[in-house]
Amino acid sequence: MSKSFYISTPIYYPSADFHIGHCYTTIIADAIARYKRLSGYDVYFQTGTDEHGQKIENKAKDAGVTPKEYVDKIIENAKDLWKSLDISYDYFIRTTDEDHVKRVQKIFEKLYKSGDIYKGEYSGLYCTPCESFWTEAQLVDGKCPDCSRDVHLIKEEAYFFKLSKYADKLLKFYDENPDFLLPLSRKNEMINNFIKPGLQDLCVSRTSFDWGIPVTFDKKHVIYVWIDALTNYITSLGYPDEVGDKFNKYWPCDLHLVGKEIVRFHAIIWPCILMALNLPLPKQVFGHGWLIIDGGKISKSLGNYKDPREYIKQYGVDAVRYFALREVPFGSDGNFSEEALITRTNGDLANVLGNLVNRSISMANKYFDGKVSNKKDYPEDKEFISCLESLKDEVDKKMKTYEVGGALASIFDVLRRSNKYVDETTPWILYKEGNLERLEKVIYNLLEAVRICSILLQPFMPSTTEKIFKQLGVSDTSFADICKKIDFSVNKPEVLFARIVEK
Ligand code: MSP
Repeated sequence: MSKSFYISTPIYYPSADFHIGHCYTTIIADAIARYKRLSGYDVYFQTGTDEHGQKIENKAKDAGVTPKEYVDKIIENAKDLWKSLDISYDYFIRTTDEDHVKRVQKIFEKLYKSGDIYKGEYSGLYCTPCESFWTEAQLVDGKCPDCSRDVHLIKEEAYFFKLSKYADKLLKFYDENPDFLLPLSRKNEMINNFIKPGLQDLCVSRTSFDWGIPVTFDKKHVIYVWIDALTNYITSLGYPDEVGDKFNKYWPCDLHLVGKEIVRFHAIIWPCILMALNLPLPKQVFGHGWLIIDGGKISKSLGNYKDPREYIKQYGVDAVRYFALREVPFGSDGNFSEEALITRTNGDLANVLGNLVNRSISMANKYFDGKVSNKKDYPEDKEFISCLESLKDEVDKKMKTYEVGGALASIFDVLRRSNKYVDETTPWILYKEGNLERLEKVIYNLLEAVRICSILLQPFMPSTTEKIFKQLGVSDTSFADICKKIDFSVNKPEVLFARIVEK
């Protein structure tokens, strides 16, 4: 039986204005999910939308429609964007799904019955855009520390979750599971800024607006949107009323991939809820950095917003995916600009990958009518061949710790090395000299390089590699036995990435 692997992205607030930064989490999650599938795992990759809360209620009011009408219309935008980015999710959850609603209510009832949720009165500060509660001390210049917008005072009867009860248990869990929260900087931030100063019980219901999941035993309350949202990771598996094969196979989740600003919800509140439910905790939470523009946020109001589909239309889906995966050191922030996207596309995709594929297939056609088979080995190829043979292990090693950029860097080193191999072996001179035996081996090695690199590139650039396999005439693109020798019968070459001329 194959091993399972559950990876999730956060569920997104429905929006008509998703930007390239929003795509970042999902592109990385997709590359990891695809890599794991090709490595033989039974993968469950989940994404979705987070549709309740005061923010959505306000937006719907402004648009003159009901919240449900508002989200129903806008939800297609997320699905369409993920489709245009070749996101291979297995399940898309909406928090307005009937099953989810019913299950969140059951979870809330369960926690109330066990005493982990109790009734009280909330008086404090709230940031509506972030749907976050704050204390005075946590504010920065009197504003929300996450988004720098105004917070407002709310005072209402509310239910609370006993977060404080789990602080010591959580610290012990961090201690015993050093890889639970990565990168380390985020873990230190959680421990020093949030857990050690003392966790306060969390307000988990609201009464001042309606757009949320009602508390079954006290209908004027709706469940706090983050409780509703976080539990999506288990309600989609059937918890608590249909705990069966799906739940047992995929829970605990292997990786929650989240942006750095929501690590606190995933690495503090979520584990405590799971402890209260007596469920195992996720194996890992990874808090990635942000894509920023000119050192700042991406947003419509700042005038630096462009619909990601425009970049895709202009440069191709894999240029956008490659940029997101390669440019930003995983875990840190990275600058996004169209110039940088063009530089990456021209430099790596057109000059290195596209050029190697094109010249290798062209030479196979020109010198051998497209048919090239493996002949005797030459000692001078030893170093080059060993680069090809060790690549899979190197990429595997990087992907084990989800260093997607590092994995791509290793593949592109070999592609660059392969272009250099052409310059070293000068096939056109071998042809002129009539040294066809050596020439065939050189072209064979190049086709092998293209084949091996493309197999490993599939998770990152699925549509480009599909084109390469067609040109290469290769049908077995599996990771297993990647270095096996095959005979090639290639097709006509086609340009994969045209050089972009900056206006
Ligand atoms: N709805 C919550 C998540 C609930 S999960 C139980 C939410 N949604 S969001 O739409 O605001 O953000 C979704 C993801 O997009 C988050 O991981 C967030 O970090 C990511 N990004 C939003 N802007 C980003 C950048 N500029 N760069 C990289 N990722 C960013 O939070």
